[in-house]
Amino acid sequence: MRSPALALFPIWASLVPLATPQPQEQPAHSRPYSTWLADSIISANLVPQTRWYSEATFYRGLEAVHNHTSDPKYLDFLTAQIDAVLTPIGDGGVAPLKGWDYTDHQLDNIRVGSTILYLHTLSPGKESEAAKKYKAAAGFLHGQLTTQYKRTASGAFWHKERYPNQLWLDGLFMAGPFSAAYAALFDPRNKTLWDDVALQFELAEKHCRNKTSGMLKHGYDESGKAVWADKVTGASPLVWIRAQGWYFMALLDVLGWFPRDHEGYAKIKGWFVELAEAVKREQDKSSGGWWLVMDEGYPGREGNYIESSGSSMYTYGLFKGIREGILDRGVYGETAERAYKGLVERFVTVRNGTNGTEINWEGTVRVGSLDGKGDYPYYTGINRVQNSLIGVGPFLLASVEWEKYQSTRS
Ligand SMILES: *[C@@H]1O[C@H](CO)[C@@H](O)[C@H](O)[C@H]1NC(C)=O
Ligand SMILES: *[C@@H]1O[C@H](CO)[C@@H](O)[C@H](O)[C@H]1NC(C)=O
Ligand SMILES: *[C@@H]1O[C@H](CO)[C@@H](O)[C@H](O)[C@H]1NC(C)=O
Ligand SMILES: *[C@@H]1O[C@H](CO)[C@@H](O)[C@H](O)[C@H]1NC(C)=O
Ligand SMILES: *[C@@H]1O[C@H](CO)[C@@H](O)[C@H](O)[C@H]1NC(C)=O
Repeated sequence: MRSPALALFPIWASLVPLATPQPQEQPAHSRPYSTWLADSIISANLVPQTRWYSEATFYRGLEAVHNHTSDPKYLDFLTAQIDAVLTPIGDGGVAPLKGWDYTDHQLDNIRVGSTILYLHTLSPGKESEAAKKYKAAAGFLHGQLTTQYKRTASGAFWHKERYPNQLWLDGLFMAGPFSAAYAALFDPRNKTLWDDVALQFELAEKHCRNKTSGMLKHGYDESGKAVWADKVTGASPLVWIRAQGWYFMALLDVLGWFPRDHEGYAKIKGWFVELAEAVKREQDKSSGGWWLVMDEGYPGREGNYIESSGSSMYTYGLFKGIREGILDRGVYGETAERAYKGLVERFVTVRNGTNGTEINWEGTVRVGSLDGKGDYPYYTGINRVQNSLIGVGPFLLASVEWEKYQSTRS
């Protein structure tokens, strides 16, 4: 497998040593990576019809691709995927989401709610069957979250029933943007709802953020019982790239819905900027990416590596932060460009697909949890997989932002 030529982006031609061109290749095509990878993943049938968070992370990327291209085929795909996991409306007494587990209370199950709301907002007419169906499903998820899910004494959602009193940064992305979108769409003046969205971040900040490095540990245990919990803060031992990446995206995506006159707005924005500064500082200058374990002293260590899902999340956040005027293009633009170039060079490979030249997404760590010790051997011992939807989704987000960024190049 080889890297695709960066034909679309002449600016890089002078910056990037291109892979050796293959003779007899297709002519230099001008396909953006967003639609190219989305199409490649879909045509290879790599997206099961489930509502699990990895699929939902891909859906999030595809929403951006749909929004950016206005191509109805992406909306049709999302609609088919979501409809496959919903029960028909009015199916008395049954949860609107198929196979709902009322006992595990896990935040991962909330992530799909964002896509359900996306489909709701694009349904023709608030009173259409589709709009009602998606509203009912979103209402169900929101009700489960706010009335059934368990919380620590200070109000943080447990990551799931099995991990009592533990907030993981991952959960902020799984439930934060959904909660914010839900409030904005259906109950925008309910201050209690907004306070609660902000509280989740506030607690993560209090326990996980290192004020010196600007980075956040993977999670914390408010009861202090987990084997990994720090005696003072309750925090886990290490900064794991993807947990902090979920968090970076969550801050930004929540801001898009958050009322500006609520005191949480300025705080969330401040936390995002503080993390962006750390992300810029921690960028690996030669690859443009970020290391799996990011704490001081770990980059470059044996077993550590540049990971593709987290690196995409930071790239997305930087570009979007610039586009939204939260980050200064002059300060962050170069970091984000170098990051995106690195992602393409390092993690995009070409395959001879069923439908012509397709691309793969490489180098995404399969999982990372606080189930065990949360230490360095644990994180680095997990394997990396090709075409993980957890990595594809953020790369689609980064690509759409890159394409928008390019079109506003001054
Ligand atoms: C192949 O590409 C064509 C045109 O883009 C599309 O209509 C068709 O669905 C694709 N086939 C597969 C298997 O993805
Ligand atoms: C994309 O998002 C923008 C901003 O929310 C919206 O105005 C526009 O209508 C969206 N486009 C599509 C095709 O959904
Ligand atoms: C705000 O939302 C909460 C949680 O859904 C609900 O219990 C409460 O009644 C709402 N408050 C108002 C004023 O509607
Ligand atoms: C906080 O960050 C500083 C600077 O990177 C580092 O020296 C220190 O060890 C970190 N503290 C913890 C608990 O990781
Ligand atoms: C792609 O696969 C087709 C059918 O197997 C083959 O004819 C063609 O030579 C392959 N192209 C490349 C670039 O490998």
